[in-house]
Amino acid sequence: MATKKASPAASNDEVSEAEIAVHWQEEGYYQPSPKFIAQANLTDTDMHKRFSLDNFPECFKEYADLLTWYKYWEKTLDTSNAPFWRWFVGGKINASYNCVDRHLEKHRNKTAIHFISELENEPIQHITYQELYVRVNEVAALLRNFCGLKAGDRVTLHMPMVAELPITMLACARIGVIHSQVFSGFSGKACADRIVDSASDVLITMDGYYRGGAMQDQKEKADIACEDAAAQGHKVKKVLIWQRYPGKNSSPRPMVKGRDFIMNEVLKDYRLTRIDPVEMPAEAPLFLMYTSGTTGKPKGCQHSTGGYLAYAAATSKYFQDIHPEDVYWCMADIGWITGHSYIVYGPLALGASTVVYEGVPTYPDAGRPWRIAEELGVNIFHTSPTAIRALRRTGPDEPQKYNYHFKHMTTVGEPIEPEVWRWYHEVVGKREAAIVDTWWQTETGGFLCSTVPALHPMKPGSAGPALPGIHPVIYDEDGNEIPRGAGKAGNICIRNPWPGIFQTIWGDPDRFVRQYYERYNKKKGSTDWRDWPYFAGDGAVQSEDGYYRILGRIDDVINVAGHRLGTKEIESAALTVTEVAEAAVVPVADEIKGRVPDLYVALKPGVQASRELQERISQAVVTEISPIARPRKVWIVPDMPKTRSGKIMRRVLAAISSNQDAGDVSTLANPEIVDELRKMAKM
Ligand code: WT7
Repeated sequence: MATKKASPAASNDEVSEAEIAVHWQEEGYYQPSPKFIAQANLTDTDMHKRFSLDNFPECFKEYADLLTWYKYWEKTLDTSNAPFWRWFVGGKINASYNCVDRHLEKHRNKTAIHFISELENEPIQHITYQELYVRVNEVAALLRNFCGLKAGDRVTLHMPMVAELPITMLACARIGVIHSQVFSGFSGKACADRIVDSASDVLITMDGYYRGGAMQDQKEKADIACEDAAAQGHKVKKVLIWQRYPGKNSSPRPMVKGRDFIMNEVLKDYRLTRIDPVEMPAEAPLFLMYTSGTTGKPKGCQHSTGGYLAYAAATSKYFQDIHPEDVYWCMADIGWITGHSYIVYGPLALGASTVVYEGVPTYPDAGRPWRIAEELGVNIFHTSPTAIRALRRTGPDEPQKYNYHFKHMTTVGEPIEPEVWRWYHEVVGKREAAIVDTWWQTETGGFLCSTVPALHPMKPGSAGPALPGIHPVIYDEDGNEIPRGAGKAGNICIRNPWPGIFQTIWGDPDRFVRQYYERYNKKKGSTDWRDWPYFAGDGAVQSEDGYYRILGRIDDVINVAGHRLGTKEIESAALTVTEVAEAAVVPVADEIKGRVPDLYVALKPGVQASRELQERISQAVVTEISPIARPRKVWIVPDMPKTRSGKIMRRVLAAISSNQDAGDVSTLANPEIVDELRKMAKM
């Protein structure tokens, strides 16, 4: 069974995802095909040896050498301010140059981005590297000259899945501006929190976009975001609004004079303007990516330019097996780290063609992804177990109707059930594709565990061994190492730093150290990286063959459809409803989404429970965070199960929600509540 105690912050009373993780049997191996192996980028069996700890950190020069540097670095890894690692110190580089300019000579006329509207009757846009170059330059000119932005400034993006999103990101990178893209599905309020935390003066958005066949009003969220940020004491100076259809407004919202500007209009002034890429220190931050943690406040993970890009490019090349001639489609959203590393930066650094799809995979029907694959000749496909489960349920026989062939497929974001894996392999991959199950996190920049697609057999449900240069260790609660094959789960950590690891939490270095490095730190103040294992916050078990199986979060983070949501975030959203006295969120298993939140609330004295109130609480979660956080159920309860010291026993609530044995409840202050809640849950 997985770990009992969670992160330092959580206590025994809290239930962890790992604790309720499904446990399945060890599976048999599947071999990659000779055809795949014959063309693979990584067939060198010495690679892991070359990246052994004996060769650390110099081994990572091999990754950095995939990039074009203005100036080579003097020191590969500086640990003098551990655990704030500095990679490739002294090096000068520009991410936009590496993803755009340097491909012009060979691939000028090749598609960089295929943009697919959710509306199937709209033609696909094929943006060549030359066009990408022109557009990135124009946007960079606008950001610099119209907005006065310069290296080190932060800009918040709240953009949907359109070609303009990578264009805007690369324009920021071109002038050293740190972008912070917020998932478009997040509410205006969630966007405001991220604007305030990063102190962005400029917000870039789009008027609208299609989702599920309906035009969404994204501009409305910008208005809410600015209003809410102002209420928090931060004024957004400019809102730049891309038009989904240039020349036409897709949102009915009025423009705020002096604040709102239509990108497509302003861009006309910068037609064909060229902006030289700024030579940035390797250590300069490239972007922030906010993610949920154990407290209510989302944290801005700060990623570097040189180290991050080197890691994204190398792992794309060797683990996604991307060659410049491939058509690569990662169906994630660029609003998450997967999209940053494996839709934008990795594939474009390699000069590949990357697909940006606007909408939901099952719109208008479950055959859509396979039609896209056939039409574009996609040969590498990357998605999450949630999407695979949804496609399997709604269209189990759809893939065979279409004439596409994947050589390689990825699954990422949550553990995948072996049964679902097999459908992915047999039906989606037509038994031809090599599959990698990649384990990593927002914080890690790129993959940590995965099989090498041409070298290692696949094992359904297991991520595989660690990547070259990544040296995991599984600790028990007392800091003892759990050896492979012991059949025991523990807390997975990484012994060493690597170039893709995030640099810090924006504005909160103490929390960075506390949350990721304190747990198993061997010596306070040490400047030796060996003393600072990275604490990932996942439960894991390593089998005899060295493959890691990730069991899920050990802190109070719920992984809903591969998106991290903090239980505290959802609870504080519920508490914005004035009638609510207490709120507790627990994860419940869901056939499609993996996990969904169940929300328990106790009302203030004298308040009557009602359906209307339940709906209002549910809506508050959507407004504060996003529809992805919407609770499966809102249970209005007379009281919460509590310890004698007054702590809510989430473990008991989770058991009730999942219809499982609640275990020993005799230590509760109010044990009688358990039966009452059970009866309620059965109704
Ligand atoms: C958490 C990180 C990695 C990009 C998308 C999510 C879980 C991630 C796997 C996998 C089992 C996985 C972990 C991790 N997770 N990949 N292959 N197998 N679990 O990024 O939002 O930062 O979430 O997702 O629990 O800690 P994220």
